[in-house]
Amino acid sequence: MTLVEEFPGVRVRAPGKINVFLEVGARQDDGYHDLATAFQAVSLYEDLVASHADGFTLSVTGSVDTTGVPVDDTNLALRAARLLATETGYDGGVHLDIRKEVPVAGGMGGGSADAAAALVACDALWGTGLSSRELHTLAARLGADVPFALAGGTAVGTGRGDALNPALARGRFEWVLVANPDGLSTPKVYAELDRLREEHAAQIPPAPETPSVSADVLHALRAGDPRMLAEVLHNDLQAAALRLRPDLGAVLDLGVREGALAGIVSGSGPTLAFLVETRQEGYGLLQRLERAGHDAFQAHGPVHGARIA
Ligand code: C5P
Repeated sequence: MTLVEEFPGVRVRAPGKINVFLEVGARQDDGYHDLATAFQAVSLYEDLVASHADGFTLSVTGSVDTTGVPVDDTNLALRAARLLATETGYDGGVHLDIRKEVPVAGGMGGGSADAAAALVACDALWGTGLSSRELHTLAARLGADVPFALAGGTAVGTGRGDALNPALARGRFEWVLVANPDGLSTPKVYAELDRLREEHAAQIPPAPETPSVSADVLHALRAGDPRMLAEVLHNDLQAAALRLRPDLGAVLDLGVREGALAGIVSGSGPTLAFLVETRQEGYGLLQRLERAGHDAFQAHGPVHGARIA
């Protein structure tokens, strides 16, 4: 028997993301917020291997702390596999083996990347042959960030964040990320933003009626110019994340003092993303942040979306 026959699994790699710009509008009746964001997929990857099984099972390892990852039916990758099976009438199962590199509950879309990887892997393993449009539709049912993990690259997301339009981006942006051992709950961060807007209207701008990505952000991405992008990085969720985790403010200040062009809370946090000019400068910043006791790593973007590795 050849190695391939002994190991009839499908391996898929999907990226984490940084929202280089995120404007959050009002809460809608379904509980979601209308938003406009510019996503960039970055070179921290979730690796998933799907193999034939009778039921739906999962194992999770990683270079990051994975203790917070559910391994029961609430896991988003397992839900993705089940959704694909239900929608296509596939009556078998799958075992998913996930190796995580994206911080858990960190605001970088690791769980969404797992779900995107599971859709692509199971579709190939089971031969269900969905089009990319069909996969996108299933992805959007699983979570607002799942379609972007499928697409990768650089994109503008509107609606819940799941209506995607690719954005032109030149070159490569270098990031230094600082993970935090205590994750943040995304719904709690959104709820905190609503509360701040209501109770501290004088300090915090109101929800924009029609969120939109600033033209300056699109221009900086197109130009591939990190200095230009550093000037316009923005995240409406940052105030809420900092309110829930005031300790993050000092780390943002430290990163900029130690040489970052700018720093931002990634998505709903608590991971912090620092933009640097070159990989070399990033390495210097990483060392200084590590010396100060932080868990830092380097990544670059944009990179590809979920695909068979
Ligand atoms: O779609 P996903 O499950 O990733 O979203 C997690 C939570 O984040 C939602 O339940 C909601 O509370 C919040 N959210 C939101 N508006 C969005 C995206 C997410 O309020 N556009």
